[in-house]
Amino acid sequence: MSEIVQRLWRHFARLEPFGMQAPDFFAELVEQAPVVRFDGMWVISGYELVTRLCTHPGFPMAAPVFTDVVHRDNPQFVRFFGSTMSVRAAEEHTRLRSVLTGAFSGRRLAGLRDRIDDVVADLLAEPLRRGEAEFVSELATPLPAAVTAVLLGVPPADRDFVTARATGMMSQLAAGFLTESHPEAGTPITAAEFAELRDYVAGLLARRRAEPAEDLIGHLAQAQEAGKLTADEAVDMVLLLFMTGLDTVTAALANTLVVLSEQPDVAAALAADPGCGDRVFAEAIRLRTPVAFGSRQVAHDLSVGKLDFKAGDTVILAFAAANLDPRKFDAPLEFRWDRPMTGNVAFGHGSYYCLGSALAAMTAQSLLTAVHDRLPTPSRPPAELPWRASLAFPTPRVLPVTFAPALADSGAR
Ligand code: HEM
Repeated sequence: MSEIVQRLWRHFARLEPFGMQAPDFFAELVEQAPVVRFDGMWVISGYELVTRLCTHPGFPMAAPVFTDVVHRDNPQFVRFFGSTMSVRAAEEHTRLRSVLTGAFSGRRLAGLRDRIDDVVADLLAEPLRRGEAEFVSELATPLPAAVTAVLLGVPPADRDFVTARATGMMSQLAAGFLTESHPEAGTPITAAEFAELRDYVAGLLARRRAEPAEDLIGHLAQAQEAGKLTADEAVDMVLLLFMTGLDTVTAALANTLVVLSEQPDVAAALAADPGCGDRVFAEAIRLRTPVAFGSRQVAHDLSVGKLDFKAGDTVILAFAAANLDPRKFDAPLEFRWDRPMTGNVAFGHGSYYCLGSALAAMTAQSLLTAVHDRLPTPSRPPAELPWRASLAFPTPRVLPVTFAPALADSGAR
């Protein structure tokens, strides 16, 4: 077994975070071991194969596996994860996904821009006044929670409740992978809390059926009325969307700051022209891909090229490594924000391509624009900070930052 494969296995077996060195590790993996096989499990890193499997009908996304305890204590939660759109059979997935596609259209998202800018301004007010912040907990975590609430149309008074429950759902999901004593394990949602959340969402949908609105819950309520999805499917979709845009965006924003801290020229370019924020963000999440892996389960015995997959095999798609494949990206470890913006698999590819990619980019752009002349820089080297233990999110767990002084306060400018 080659050294890089041994290292990969150590990470998986011991939940060792990839930390600051994640790009170096993934670049080495894709160069030296683009296909790794262990018994019934594959780790695929090569760009060409990752993207091919992302569109191959024989590699569907599978429902997460829960422990017996979760089955016993929270069966509705297990049922929910076994029936979300992403793990449904292909035709069902296409039907449900098409309901959501309209809700994420450019026109609808453009209507959210001002409200996202307002959220950003609110969150930044106090940290900017202090000149410092803990970026993850004060900005990168509450920002996507608030944006998700705006997108869906959750009343402001209920936002904390919804975010707390969504965090509990993610903790329940992670509970199978992290030990209870781990600081990231959090408190898993209980069966009663989950039932309460479902009732709450069903109530919101009922209200939107009575009083239509332009938000995403209103869109789903209309789709339900039109017979495009059932009442349970509408609730499940809202629950899925409560979760999908939280940790992902938090990790993406934190990773962008880490990348910027290593690229003083880019930070200067951004300060001069905040309009380039979308390209800076795209290149930052190619280099430090926030969602490192996707997972699939082989539907039936099949071959792709010379590889023979068996029904039930687990296939890990290493997006973070595919994004550093030198066969696809020249000098992949270099930050080049003038690269073509196509081909980046930070948001996946093909059948399950991220529905929230444009919203996430808009959120990042809003934040980068708001701080472009006061860019926050880490006040401690990121390599010395604790990084998340979840292998799926190679990102700092905390990131203390200092904001550049405001123009008016800076005698030098
Ligand atoms: C920078 C932030 C984000 C990143 C890096 C990200 C990443 C991804 C990736 C890699 C996938 C595909 C997973 C796979 O193929 O295994 C995915 C799917 C998905 N994402 Fe995102 N995501 C982000 C933000 C969001 C947001 C803001 C939302 C919604 C509010 C969202 C909703 C979804 C949904 C619903 C899917 C599943 C699509 C399907 O099953 O067809 N994501 N995301």
